[in-house]
Amino acid sequence: HRDLLGIGQLERHEILFLLDEAEQWVSLNRQPNKHSDQLAGLTIINAFFENSTRTLLSFEIAGKRLGADVVNMHAAQSSVKKGETLIDTAITLNAMRADAIVIRHGSSGATGLIADKVDCPVLNAGDGQHEHPTQALLDALALRHALRERGEAGDDFTGLTITICGDILHSRVARSNLLCLQALGATIRLCAPPALMPAGIEGMGAQVFNDFDAALDGADVVMMLRLQSERMSGQFIPSAREYHYLYGLTSARLEKAQEGALVMHPGPMNRGVEIDSEVADLLDRSIITQQVEMGVAIRMACLDVLTRRARGVEGWGDTV
Ligand code: CP
Repeated sequence: HRDLLGIGQLERHEILFLLDEAEQWVSLNRQPNKHSDQLAGLTIINAFFENSTRTLLSFEIAGKRLGADVVNMHAAQSSVKKGETLIDTAITLNAMRADAIVIRHGSSGATGLIADKVDCPVLNAGDGQHEHPTQALLDALALRHALRERGEAGDDFTGLTITICGDILHSRVARSNLLCLQALGATIRLCAPPALMPAGIEGMGAQVFNDFDAALDGADVVMMLRLQSERMSGQFIPSAREYHYLYGLTSARLEKAQEGALVMHPGPMNRGVEIDSEVADLLDRSIITQQVEMGVAIRMACLDVLTRRARGVEGWGDTV
């Protein structure tokens, strides 16, 4: 593949390849000197048309730790505000001879549109309700690390039941994680209020729940998602207080899951709405900060692997 637009384009062995590639960067990132010259001389453009903390910063850190020149384009300060189209923006970025372009956009499919117009690899950093592939990869890496620390993980997640609860309808994280975790053998339960569950999602192989307690029963991992009010248009949703009562992950509720069940959240969190602080900060159970740590390593792996062909290094697309 030239681009990373979604988990849907990847085979199971390609997902495992990226996770394995990331391990060297997890190790490097834990050293005092975190620098590699792997991508020296390359230019990476992060073009973000939507807000971000984790994804933007971790792609920037990833590129810099690999020795690349990294520049960020924030749509709010760009000529997008003067009416420039997405296509013209893509053509403009291409003319600057970037070696990789990382895109976050509010419209599903926007990253694919840009990929069609440029000559370098495009990495999807989240497009509308469609996919957020590096989030799913970092979640898988964080989960694998947490399970290995407990001596429980094999190469994949066969036998694991993972409950994903929240605004599934608007969540690119849920979609990418469903594809990624299923490809790695996990059983996925999706839980949301009826108005926030996409029609026909059962067809993707997930078990579907509206009752959070039932969805939690015996789960090995609980992944919580926030309500994405910025994408809502007229859906009936409960108030924050009612939502917390029905779908908030509290300590008492977590008891319904498997003993020692792990807690995940891609961030940003709305504490006291979808997750209580005492659960989000639960030692040995919550791996939310580990997810952020793995985000840098996974993005280093993706930037390295996707630019291999251009650097004349055999790898992605040649052997995979
Ligand atoms: N999880 C995630 O994508 O976070 P940001 O929106 O802060 O990048």
